[in-house]
Amino acid sequence: MTSKISIAGVGRTFDVKGGPFTALEGVDIEVADEEFLCIVGPSGCGKSTLLRMLGGLDRPTSGRLEMRHAQPARPLTAMIFQEESVFPWLTVERNAAYGLRVTDTWRGEESEARVDYFLGKTGLARFRKFYPHQLSGGMKQRLSVARAFVTNPEVLLMDEPFAALDEQNKHLLQQELGRIWEENRSTVVFITHSLDEAVLLGDRVMVMTSAPGRIKETIRVPFERPRDLMELRRTPEFNALTRELWTLLADEVARARAQEAGRVSGAAGKVQFDAEAG
Ligand SMILES: Nc1ncnc2c1ncn2[C@@H]1O[C@H](COP(=O)(O)OP(=O)(O)OP(=O)(O)O)[C@@H](O)[C@H]1O
Ligand SMILES: [Mg+2]
Repeated sequence: MTSKISIAGVGRTFDVKGGPFTALEGVDIEVADEEFLCIVGPSGCGKSTLLRMLGGLDRPTSGRLEMRHAQPARPLTAMIFQEESVFPWLTVERNAAYGLRVTDTWRGEESEARVDYFLGKTGLARFRKFYPHQLSGGMKQRLSVARAFVTNPEVLLMDEPFAALDEQNKHLLQQELGRIWEENRSTVVFITHSLDEAVLLGDRVMVMTSAPGRIKETIRVPFERPRDLMELRRTPEFNALTRELWTLLADEVARARAQEAGRVSGAAGKVQFDAEAG
């Protein structure tokens, strides 16, 4: 297996009031080329921190993080953030083209065709002259997806891209993302709180521990593609897998809750936990 991404012994400690806070510790992950890796973990376990480091927006305080940039003509990464991240002063088509224009990789008609293609794939073609304030939340999130795909990155980093959406739009976008990815393979690291989403989209799902975040378990998703969530939900295999993931996650979530309570009461880094917590 050629690794596209190698994360070895990575840790991240922040200096905060009351002393250092270790958000991540000893994280080891190998991501294969064109793999779709999903990461789940309790709130505050360091998922966004990890993704930001992959996107070059932050650096580890220990360990090593490497990505193989195979095709210099393609950007290495593109990131879709947890929060809304389209530019309000640009139209839909300008937003979608932004990554190419800002990196000076705009290639005239070829780039226009690429923008058209992904605006079509995300159902935004008719809205190309609209500004973000004229779009719904779901449409803006679809625009973020289009914008990231337009740049054709080798690695797509997605941080809960659909978390803020209503169920129906979330469902549609999950299916669309799965399809777009099947047609335009790239390596994906996808963070989510939804176990259904992780199993629908991922080749593997990693479960993280509460802070300091580590990889607790990695599970390979055995289902054939293309996948359909409604069909999958009907199968005992899908239910067994999501149940297994939830079992792994549940006590980490309880631990994270207890940690948060400890931090708020000023006992950062000094909280202790029972193995049976929760
Ligand atoms: N710049 C920073 N300075 C201090 N602490 C930080 C900083 N960034 C993150 N943290 C802390 O690191 C921990 C992990 O944060 P992170 O945003 O990575 O969590 P997360 O797993 O993405 O959570 P969520 O699921 O809620 O998005 C949190 O306790 C947070 O308070
Ligand atoms: Mg986060």
